[in-house]
Amino acid sequence: MPAPADTLVGEFDFSAEKVLLNSGWEMPIIGTGTWTLSDEEAENSTYYALKAGMRLIDTARYYQNETGVGKGLARAIDEGIVTREEVFITSKIYGGDHDRAVKVIDEALSDLNVDYIDLMLIHQPGSDDAGVYKAMEEAVERGKIHSIGISNYYTKEQVEEVLSFAEITPAVIQNENHIFYQNAELRDYVKQYGIVMESWYPFGGRGHTQESFENDVILDIAKDHGKTAAQIILRWHLQDGYIAIPGSSNPDHIAENYDIFDFELSEDEMDRIRGIDEQRRYEHW
Ligand SMILES: NC(=O)c1ccc[n+]([C@@H]2O[C@H](COP(=O)([O-])OP(=O)(O)OC[C@H]3O[C@@H](n4cnc5c(N)ncnc54)[C@H](OP(=O)(O)O)[C@@H]3O)[C@@H](O)[C@H]2O)c1
Repeated sequence: MPAPADTLVGEFDFSAEKVLLNSGWEMPIIGTGTWTLSDEEAENSTYYALKAGMRLIDTARYYQNETGVGKGLARAIDEGIVTREEVFITSKIYGGDHDRAVKVIDEALSDLNVDYIDLMLIHQPGSDDAGVYKAMEEAVERGKIHSIGISNYYTKEQVEEVLSFAEITPAVIQNENHIFYQNAELRDYVKQYGIVMESWYPFGGRGHTQESFENDVILDIAKDHGKTAAQIILRWHLQDGYIAIPGSSNPDHIAENYDIFDFELSEDEMDRIRGIDEQRRYEHW
């Protein structure tokens, strides 16, 4: 939905739990990720996320669970929990070229069972990014996609390359970002274009979460606020300007991940968490 006239692009609004994108569309700042989830799990996670109050769901063609996400969305709409317009769905195109991307966008719409996708991303750099990007721009013109962006572009040079052929500036860059890999430099650099950063692996990803959850600084701050380590980490992402999409198939975890709007980290606490950064990524795709 369109934002109020005085809203600034890229500024997180914690009372509305949204950010205005450079495309003119608003995006929720906290959501649920569905990587590794089966169709059935993705359906449940989507449904329980929407029931808990989350309004952003992250999927991708590559995850092969868009059908499940679509079913979870339909279930929540049928039960009167949300309307389609209140929900923000992100999907991603994995590799390919212009013509394949045109086809893939229609397949995603069909699997998700929606008339439009809120945000479509190039999943990672490939051989014909310009062609794939063009297909996404054409889909925006046709109303099939509202906003477009990129994922797994980690340097200024990579972003500048995309900007060199983009007619529509990317609205979002979705990258691996967590307490051990913050990449604040890129977040600050892309601000000039009104591009918002979004964190995947906000907890370090499956198999690595304990390293984040058992970090001394995080535990110390969690104790002071009476919150869990997961909630402190998510609040740090949001307060530092990263949309977060923690992945979960557990309804209790999903509700916990949404329960982060009743406290605030101080600047000193933010600085302590910024100090954890080791510029260390878990993945290199
Ligand atoms: N663009 C890309 O290339 C890319 C790559 C990777 C991921 N992503 C997106 O980013 C999302 C997030 O990444 P991710 O899911 O891989 O990793 P993650 O969010 O860092 O971690 C997910 C893990 O955290 C656990 N968890 C979630 N909430 C918890 C809580 N409150 N307390 C304790 N454990 C909790 C989950 O287990 P339970 O299921 O038991 O809750 C799961 O094991 C993905 O789901 C996907 O949508 C995008």
